[in-house]
Amino acid sequence: MNINIAIDGYSSCGKGTLAKALAKELQYRFIDSGAMYRGVTLAALRKGLNFSMSEDLIGILEEIHLDFETKADGSNGLLLNGEWVEEEIRLPNVAAHVSWVASIPQVREQLVSQQQSIGASKGVVMDGRDIGTVVFPQAELKIFMTARPEIRAQRRFQESQQKGIEVSYEEVLANLQERDRIDSSRDHSPLTLTDDYRVLDNSDLTPDEQLALALSWVQEAKASIR
Ligand code: CDP
Repeated sequence: MNINIAIDGYSSCGKGTLAKALAKELQYRFIDSGAMYRGVTLAALRKGLNFSMSEDLIGILEEIHLDFETKADGSNGLLLNGEWVEEEIRLPNVAAHVSWVASIPQVREQLVSQQQSIGASKGVVMDGRDIGTVVFPQAELKIFMTARPEIRAQRRFQESQQKGIEVSYEEVLANLQERDRIDSSRDHSPLTLTDDYRVLDNSDLTPDEQLALALSWVQEAKASIR
């Protein structure tokens, strides 16, 4: 029997890594909800929108079509109006604006309803900020991920270096702390740890160790609904 798995938590703490590994192991569908907010942000940047005018952004929402594609080599990424933008949505300029875009209620409503229809048939691992609270409040397993900020910044900085993105460690740390602040304090569906989550602090865990722990929770979640 398939379940839905919601993974929420702070910026850059490896939610995507865990979600992808779980999806592979369980043969579930992985959905990176953050990529969708990044996709809307990229569309707004390309239009040269003024980021203090939320009306402008709401106005272009109907022109934005988001989808996920799995390439022949198995890599999975976001399509913005049919164009592969998986690398572009990770650039610092998108990261700098995405939390503002994600705080606009109309943006959230549109993306949440798309996410809910993807999860309707179960067998989905979705990561984000509001997956267990708003998108799938009935998810059979909810994981809240966290790690020490310096460790998160170091991991994201290394990732950026490997991809050849020019950004300093200090900029990465400042960006993730700022996103955490906005994501946790916004009025509309803020990142919130409720008591139905399992907390996973992976500061001192390897990817394999965190996967093993999460898989043991999957077994428990499945056993409790039988
Ligand atoms: O991977 P990283 O932790 O850097 O962030 P992400 O998952 O790509 O999400 C980027 C941003 O989108 C977050 O900082 C949030 O502002 C927003 N987001 C959100 O509001 N709700 C979600 N379900 C997912 C992302």
